[in-house]
Amino acid sequence: MSTQKTLARLPGFRDFPPEDLALRARLFDAWRRVSRRYGFVEYDGPPLEPLELYTRKSGEEIVEQLYTFEDKGGRQVALRPEMTPSLARVLGERSRAMPKPIRWFSVPQLFRYERHQRGRLREHFQWNVDLVGEDGVEADAEVLAVALDGLREVGLGSEDIRARVSDRRLLAALLKSVGLPEERLEAAYAVIDKIEREPEERILERLSDPEDVGLDDATARRVLEIFDTPTLEGIEERFAQAEGVAERVEEMRRFLGSLHDLGFGDCVDFDLTIVRGLAYYTGIVFEVFDRQGEFRAICGGGRYDDLLDRIGGAGLSAVGFGMGDVVLGELLRERGAVPEYRPEVDFFIVPIGVEQLPLARRVARAQRNRGLSVVYPLRKQSVRKSFSAAASEGAREVLVLGPDEVEQGVALLRDMASGEERNVELARLLEVPEPAGKAPVGEG
Ligand code: HAM
Repeated sequence: MSTQKTLARLPGFRDFPPEDLALRARLFDAWRRVSRRYGFVEYDGPPLEPLELYTRKSGEEIVEQLYTFEDKGGRQVALRPEMTPSLARVLGERSRAMPKPIRWFSVPQLFRYERHQRGRLREHFQWNVDLVGEDGVEADAEVLAVALDGLREVGLGSEDIRARVSDRRLLAALLKSVGLPEERLEAAYAVIDKIEREPEERILERLSDPEDVGLDDATARRVLEIFDTPTLEGIEERFAQAEGVAERVEEMRRFLGSLHDLGFGDCVDFDLTIVRGLAYYTGIVFEVFDRQGEFRAICGGGRYDDLLDRIGGAGLSAVGFGMGDVVLGELLRERGAVPEYRPEVDFFIVPIGVEQLPLARRVARAQRNRGLSVVYPLRKQSVRKSFSAAASEGAREVLVLGPDEVEQGVALLRDMASGEERNVELARLLEVPEPAGKAPVGEG
């Protein structure tokens, strides 16, 4: 007996046996289809990046979660925890010559050393869609529509999900109007981002903590009271006099109106507590959740008008989102919306005896050259065993090569779904053009 222990997978990482890979492939296909429907083209970058790419602008939380090490050349490197800084770098190098707006998407695997929790792993695949070089809220609406259409494409509509949307500039105007100094804004965003997940006392404590936001108690309370007014109309009324609020409310209305035109009005709710954890957002921000609020966010994004300038030197506005495969997979499974995994092949060839094996290989070759999937037994086995193998391979048709039929130049084709059988001419099964560019090999 082997004394070797099976090496376990790292915590937070996944294997993808075919049944799990099938779901992943289904998501990727849907994401790619929808991206193209909106005119986005695919790009990618390296999974390993210089550490500095993230320490500059991603925000503390993500930097703490980096997988980072020194490479053999003495460089500080990190596995990419998100795609946006790589996008900013790639575009910085080439965006000047490109017509705007730029519509790019990607499906990278990302790595974050997260605390173990439901919906969060240490690697995930994330659909990234970013629109660059257009600063109106209509672009923001177009991008959020891509995300919502991506969810609809896998079967999740307004009854299953909702996007919660806000605007950091509106929040900034409100915070300033209650006495929060400009230089404390970023610290305040990080605390407000946790409003839903932490008790009120803890939020107040952090707002007053000199090491955190550092507000006096009265200002801290006024900050928290902003969130007593949940509707856009309420905010407009209550903060009518506050500088900048009316313009931002008007923009939010245009944003919501555009989403309505695009068919997603009933999936979107204004929600001032959405701030986003990442530091670089500058305008509209959004997160998509399951409607019951059971799961972590499925998707998050927003406008980030300074990042490209800071990382790649391209002074371009941008808006985008990331949608992970983990929560989405959990949600689809819970809804029973994941089709049962079934392997499929077009043909399974059953040679009755070993004498028919060479013919089986020739038929397989011909049919594969036509683009069909073909499997046959690689060694002598009983017809019964072959038929059960055909069933477990998911064969649509079984082709039986029996000595008598072969002698007459035919083979028996059985449709596995209907059980119907008919003879087909071997000459037809073998007659297939060779793949382009390749001369026939072996026998003629
Ligand atoms: P994010 O909110 O950090 O944004 O991630 C976006 C989505 O990726 C989350 O809503 C979640 O579905 C998924 N996700 C994130 N971390 C994990 C994890 N550890 N395990 C499983 N899923 C995860 C960003 O990354 C931004 N760069 C998105 C963006 C693109 N903004 C503009 N363009």
